[in-house]
Amino acid sequence: MYLKLITYFTLVFCINNSKAHELDTNGYILYCPCMGRFGNQADHFLGALGFAQGLNRTLVLPPWVEYRYGEPKSIQVPFDTYFKVEPLREFHKVITMEEFMRDIAPIEWPLNERISFCYTNRGDDNNCNAKYGNPFGPFWDTFDVDFVGSEFYGPLHYDTYNHDMARQWKDKYPPNKWPVLAFSGAPAAFPVQAENRHLHKYLKWTDTYETRADDFITSMPKGAFIGIHLRNGIDWVRACEHIPESPNLFAAAQCLGYRNEHGVATPDMCLPTKETILRQLKRVIKKLQTIKSVFVASDSNHLIRELKTGLERIKVDVYKYPENSPHVDLVILGKAHHFIGNCISSYSAFVKRERDAKGLTSSFWAFPSEKDKTKRANVSHLEL
Ligand SMILES: *[C@@H]1O[C@H](CO)[C@@H](O)[C@H](O)[C@H]1NC(C)=O
Ligand SMILES: *[C@@H]1O[C@H](CO)[C@@H](O)[C@H](O)[C@H]1NC(C)=O
Repeated sequence: MYLKLITYFTLVFCINNSKAHELDTNGYILYCPCMGRFGNQADHFLGALGFAQGLNRTLVLPPWVEYRYGEPKSIQVPFDTYFKVEPLREFHKVITMEEFMRDIAPIEWPLNERISFCYTNRGDDNNCNAKYGNPFGPFWDTFDVDFVGSEFYGPLHYDTYNHDMARQWKDKYPPNKWPVLAFSGAPAAFPVQAENRHLHKYLKWTDTYETRADDFITSMPKGAFIGIHLRNGIDWVRACEHIPESPNLFAAAQCLGYRNEHGVATPDMCLPTKETILRQLKRVIKKLQTIKSVFVASDSNHLIRELKTGLERIKVDVYKYPENSPHVDLVILGKAHHFIGNCISSYSAFVKRERDAKGLTSSFWAFPSEKDKTKRANVSHLEL
């Protein structure tokens, strides 16, 4: 009797709550942002948003997957820690994963119908193995999700802008039979497909992050500043060694085009030397004239001392955020008078897209290469 009462109240609670979130009869899309760090996950997010819109299913906003030094399992940070949910709704239907699991899953996603979606089998057996490894297991465990089966959706893919792909998904997985499509990885391309880049404008930082960035900017000298991104950790140094064989590595398409129509990647683009960095900074500072300081974001070496020395004579000082916070760094970079980033880095790509949406200028280390510059005077907005 007592147990029945609890069940009854749980039910009433769920029904009451779900009223806040009307069920979407067109279904839901759920995924694990299981590849890479923030920059890669952001690329994938824009793709997933475009895909969900193409299928007219509600996109469930997954937490961001983060890795802390020395911890064996990923940490899941709720989506709305960093970004506001409301502005995304101007483009498409979304719900946070926390709300989905609390209000929608009990009704639309019963325990015995939780199927994981992947293109083809992952591992040796006929299975997506959606929870095998880190962050795959920890991600779904955060929400106590277990899968009872796998569904291979290949040869369908995510490019709903071509090949009548949305229709094919709707035919194969009609929402009345498949209310929830739960993907073991992001249903999106990396780097972000050109058609989805503009969706970045719906990503708005939360007030908390805006304020942290503004407070720091106020502490720098009054006046314009240049934001720069120096990606130079050991993992990056190793990745850059592959530039000769991978002329379109990671986010390179943001500079070089998706078909390398603007050239191929060079080592200096991937890992600019101190000389390149200083030379380019001085050139931009001279051109813009109003610059009072430089703000540096880096995953490893901010080069503060070297840059301070190099810019001392032209009376420009150099700063970094006192705490290790890649997200606050991003917000500050998004507010700089000008930004210089790394063509190959998806973290830089995030800043570039945000600034494009705001109409602010950006350029890149060692791109266009010195010898190409005269040839392609057109890309002057990238050069500065
Ligand atoms: C998309 O789904 C919503 C309901 O969630 C519906 O109101 C809308 O008409 C649908 N749009 C299209 C283009 O089918
Ligand atoms: C550069 O711009 C000029 C004039 O706008 C145009 O004729 C030329 O084709 C462009 N070159 C490239 C490489 O896009």
